[in-house]
Amino acid sequence: MPSEIHQKRRQDLMRCIDDGIAILATAHHQPRNGDTFYPYRPDSDFYYLTHFPEPEAVAVLAPGRPGGEFLLFCRERNPEKELWDGRRAGLEGAMETYGADQALPIGQLDDCLPELLDNRDKVYTMMGRYPEFDTELLSSINAVRGRIRSGAHAPGEYIDLRHILHEMRLIKKKDEVKLIHAAGKLAAAGHARAMRFTAPGKFEYQVQAELECEFRLGGSACTAYPSIVAGGENACILHYTDNNCPLKDGDLLLIDAGAELDCYASDITRTFPVNGRFTGEQKAVYEIVLEAQKAAIDAVAPNLSVIQYHDTAVRVITEGLVDLGLLQGDVDELVETRGYSPFYMHRTGHWLGMDVHDVGDYKIEDEWRILEPGMILTVEPGIYISPATGVDEKWHNIGIRIEDDVHVTKRGNAVLTGNVPKEVEEIEALMAA
Ligand code: GLY
Ligand code: MN
Ligand code: MN
Repeated sequence: MPSEIHQKRRQDLMRCIDDGIAILATAHHQPRNGDTFYPYRPDSDFYYLTHFPEPEAVAVLAPGRPGGEFLLFCRERNPEKELWDGRRAGLEGAMETYGADQALPIGQLDDCLPELLDNRDKVYTMMGRYPEFDTELLSSINAVRGRIRSGAHAPGEYIDLRHILHEMRLIKKKDEVKLIHAAGKLAAAGHARAMRFTAPGKFEYQVQAELECEFRLGGSACTAYPSIVAGGENACILHYTDNNCPLKDGDLLLIDAGAELDCYASDITRTFPVNGRFTGEQKAVYEIVLEAQKAAIDAVAPNLSVIQYHDTAVRVITEGLVDLGLLQGDVDELVETRGYSPFYMHRTGHWLGMDVHDVGDYKIEDEWRILEPGMILTVEPGIYISPATGVDEKWHNIGIRIEDDVHVTKRGNAVLTGNVPKEVEEIEALMAA
C-alpha cells in the first residue's frame, strides 16, 4: 500500500481526537520454546496507522505538536543484531520509509512520555491490550501529576481508541478491498488445489500442505488463522485444527482456510467428498447449505440489517432440515425457539479485514447495525450432524459449511472469493479431472 494511505488514516484519526493525544504499542515478539520465537505479526491497529512491521515500537499521534505530530519510537539500527536477526528500519527508516515526523529510540519512551502527555486533556489508548504498556503509560501520567506545582497539566480523560479506530477499520477503502480481494483469490486457488489433491488415504495434514503451499507461492507470509482441514466426523468440531487423520473413502472433507496478505485476511470454507462423488445424504444436506448461503449472500446489501442475512440462512436451513425429516415441527416455531441449533450453532458470518474476525460493532444502541458500502463480511452457513443429535445413523458425521467473503457495494454486493467451485457438479467435475 502506498504510504499516503497510512498518512491519510493518521490525519483522519487526528481530526477525531482534536487536541488529545493517541498512543499505541505494537505486538510483542512471542517466544515459542527455548530461544525460538513465533513468526512476527504486528498489532493490527498499530499497523493500520503506521505500516511499520517491526516489534518494539510505539506510535504517538499528537495533533498540533510543533516538533511533529507523528512520533515513532522504535529500535535503532544495530549492525551486529541485524547480522543475526534481520534488517531494521532504524530511526532514519522510520522517518523516510514510514513517514514519521520524528523517530526516537524505543528505550527513550519512558523519558519522553511525560512531556508528550503534559497539557493534553485526553489520552486515547488501546486500554487492556498490552497490560505492561498500560502500566508504563500510567506511571508517565503520574510523573506529569508530580510536576503539577511546576505548572504541568495532567490529562483528565482516558478514552479507548478502539471506538474511533475500529469504526474507521470497519469501512474498507478501495486499496483495502483490492488487498482482501487478492487474498481471497489466492485462498480460492489454494482451495481448488486442495480439492484436486484430495483422495482416500491421504492425510488431512497433506491436504493442508498443498493448500498452504499455494498461499505461500502466491506471496502470503502466513495463513490468516490456523487452517481447519477436517475429514468425516472432524468436520463437526467447529474449530478442529489437529489435521492429523487419514481421509476415508465415502467421507466429506471440510476445509476452512484463508491466506493473509500484508496483514489483510481472507476466509473461505469449502466442503467436498474425499472420493470426488457426493452420496445421496451428503448431497441432500449440501444443497440446503448451498441454498442458504446463496440466499444469505443475496441479503447482503446497503440499508439491510447485519442480522438479516443470518436470519435468511437460518430459515432456509430450518426448512431444509424439516424437509429431510431431521427436524420435526413448524418452521416458524423452530426458528423462533432456535430448534435448529443442534445442527446449526454458529452465526452466519462476521466482519473481515485485518483480523479474520474483524473489528467493529454489530449493534448500535442495542439495534443490529445497517450495512454500508465498504463493509466486508463472511457468509458461512453450515449444518453439522453429530451422533449426539439423535437422528438416523445414515446422516451421522456429515459436517458442511460453505463460506465466502462478501463486499458491500453501493448497489448490492460483490463476492471476493468466487473462483473456487461450490456447486455439486462443479466440485465433482474438478475432482474427476
Ligand atoms: N475461520 C474462522 C471463521 O470462519 O470464522
Ligand atoms: Mn472460516
Ligand atoms: Mn469466517
